[in-house]
Amino acid sequence: MQRTISVSAPGKLMLYGEHAVVYGHPCIVTAVDQRLHLTVSQSATRRELSVDAPDVAVTGYKKPLEELGKGVIPKGVRFVEYAVKNFIDSGRVLRSRIAGLHIITKSEFASTFGFGSSSASAVCAVKALSEVLEIHLSSKEIFEISYKTVLDVQGKGSGFDVASAVYGGTLYFVTGGKIISPLAISHLPLAIGYSGVKADTVTLINKVAALSKENPELVNTIYTAIAEIVEKAKWAFEKEDFEEVGRLMNENQALLSKLEVSTEKLDAMIMGARGAGAFGAKISGAGGGDCMIALHDAQGKPAIENAIEKAGGEVIDVSTNAEGVRVE
Ligand code: MEV
Repeated sequence: MQRTISVSAPGKLMLYGEHAVVYGHPCIVTAVDQRLHLTVSQSATRRELSVDAPDVAVTGYKKPLEELGKGVIPKGVRFVEYAVKNFIDSGRVLRSRIAGLHIITKSEFASTFGFGSSSASAVCAVKALSEVLEIHLSSKEIFEISYKTVLDVQGKGSGFDVASAVYGGTLYFVTGGKIISPLAISHLPLAIGYSGVKADTVTLINKVAALSKENPELVNTIYTAIAEIVEKAKWAFEKEDFEEVGRLMNENQALLSKLEVSTEKLDAMIMGARGAGAFGAKISGAGGGDCMIALHDAQGKPAIENAIEKAGGEVIDVSTNAEGVRVE
């Protein structure tokens, strides 16, 4: 008999603390209402994983369950394959209960935006497997298996994107999930601009690591200053002091520029947004491309979005504070 489950998880935007969060500091991340969808069907056929992920050019991929994680794995399938492997290896289910698994993914957002489609696909795979096999996993267990998956595939990363996909909302997060704490934010009006350039997170982490090797004192001072901004931003959110929230975004951006992860294009979009009245604007994520964000008041959005487009950015319309992984 075939059993099918569909789940979805949100994309994310980093609000403060990127890069420093890789090294033990906190960050703040919000989930967005564009989601990654994943369907898993379990059937009594060969013990094999098959994957169709047309958004990332994967069709008809097949691998025996015993071979998961081995051999050459196409880029578009790595996170899902390792998530399935790590779910099986977690020992939460008898191996003999798992037979043929067919997984299909479909995203509402482009994988180039830096919204965390890879982490969201790992989280969805773990959640869907637990549901299809009727194993209860807590949110923390889904986080742990999915975060291991991210580390297995890319070697580096704080796990903030995994936490955002699992828990949703807006989170205060410390490296590896040491603290995952929801922030009570009723609304967070952001304009978002895509730079048109896909950034590679690991390349950017390595770039900052090289700078840190050259000048450890400078980089550590920057990380400490970023961590202070995150703490202040947490307070500012709680008081709904958006002017302060915006000012802190600008301060965070100045420090990210010192880490050399902003680009001319992102700078132009950020300056454009500030000039058009944003409370604050910064890159969101690793830098080197992907998206920038700008905080605005009730009326400010159209002018800020115009300014982002004038600087060559593509405006993306999303709401923040979205729900975490769920069964559809
Ligand atoms: C990437 O979006 C944000 C980084 O801090 C990496 C991470 O936290 O995993 C650069």
